[in-house]
Amino acid sequence: ILSACGGGGDSASGGDGTVLGFSQVGAESGWRTANTTSIQGAASEAGIDLKFSDAQQKQENQIKAIRTYIQQKVDVIAFSPVVETGWEPVLQEAKRANIPVILTDRSVDTTDESLYATFLGSDFVAEGVKAGDWLVENSATSDVNADGRINVVELEGTTGAAPAIDRAEGFREAIAAQPTIAISKSQTGDFTRDGGKQVMESFLNSDKAIDVVYAHNDDMGLGAIEAIEAAGLVPGKDIKIITVDAVKDGMQALADGKIDYIVECNPLLGPQLMDLTKKVVAGEEVPKRVVTEETTFTRDQAAAVLADRQY
Ligand code: AHR
Repeated sequence: ILSACGGGGDSASGGDGTVLGFSQVGAESGWRTANTTSIQGAASEAGIDLKFSDAQQKQENQIKAIRTYIQQKVDVIAFSPVVETGWEPVLQEAKRANIPVILTDRSVDTTDESLYATFLGSDFVAEGVKAGDWLVENSATSDVNADGRINVVELEGTTGAAPAIDRAEGFREAIAAQPTIAISKSQTGDFTRDGGKQVMESFLNSDKAIDVVYAHNDDMGLGAIEAIEAAGLVPGKDIKIITVDAVKDGMQALADGKIDYIVECNPLLGPQLMDLTKKVVAGEEVPKRVVTEETTFTRDQAAAVLADRQY
C-alpha cells in the first residue's frame, strides 16, 4: 500500500521540496500506530513531502516499496525493517542510486555500515535487561506458586525482528545469575494482541504453574490478560505480567493492577527522523547511531502519567 501523505511540499507548508520515502512495518500494535502518526505529523510540520507505505509485516512488501522509491528518485529513504536479515541487495541498489537510507526503530544485520546513513531507535537489549532486572529485584514477591521457583513464560515478538531477538537476549542476561528464575516456554505472538492471546491460551493449557509472563510488547501482554482471565485466573495476582512499550492501553492495565511493570519503548520518532532527513539532504554529518531516551513504569508511576499520555 503506497500513498503520499503528511508532507505537502513547498507550497502547503513552506517546505523545501525534500521527498522522503518511508516504508513502515505495518499496523500490528498500538506502538506502531503511534509511530506512524508521529512520522506523518512530523513530516507535515517540517514541510517534508512524505511518501508512506505499509508493508503489512512482510519483508517482500518493504523491498518492493524501497525499489519504488528508488525509481521515483526520492531524496531520502527511511524504513523500519520487519526482520533483521536480507536487506543488503536492496540497500546496495539505493547506494548505487545515491539515495541515502535512514533506519528507524529497528536495525538491519549487516557488516557494511556504508549501506545506511544513520540508525534512529531504541536499545532493545537494554529494554530486555530492564525487564529482567525488575523481576530479579521483585523475585521475593513473584513466586506466586510459592514453590521457591519462578516459572516464566515468554511471548516473543515477530520471529527474526530486532526487538524480538534483543529483548529476549537482554532479559536472559539479567536473570542469568538467578537459579530460581527459569523461562519454561517461549513462543512468538507476532507483536499482536490476538497472537499473545492464542499463545497464552496454549501455554495455560499445558502448564498450570505459570508465575510470570514476559511479553515483548504491551499488545501481546493485553492478549495474555484475556487468556488468563478466561482461564479463571487473576492477572497481576495469580500471574505477574511484564511488558515493553507503555502505550495507553498497556499503561491503563498497569494502573489497574493487571500488568506489573512496563519498560518504555518510545514510538515518537517523527521529529528526530525529519531532523535527520534534513541534515542528510544538506550533506551535514549525522551520528551513525541515535538512541531513543526511555524510562520504566511501576503501577503508581503509570497512574500518575496516564491522563497526559499521548498514545
Ligand atoms: O520495533 C518496535 C516494536 O514493534 C514495538 O515494541 C512493538 O509493539 C512493535 O510492533
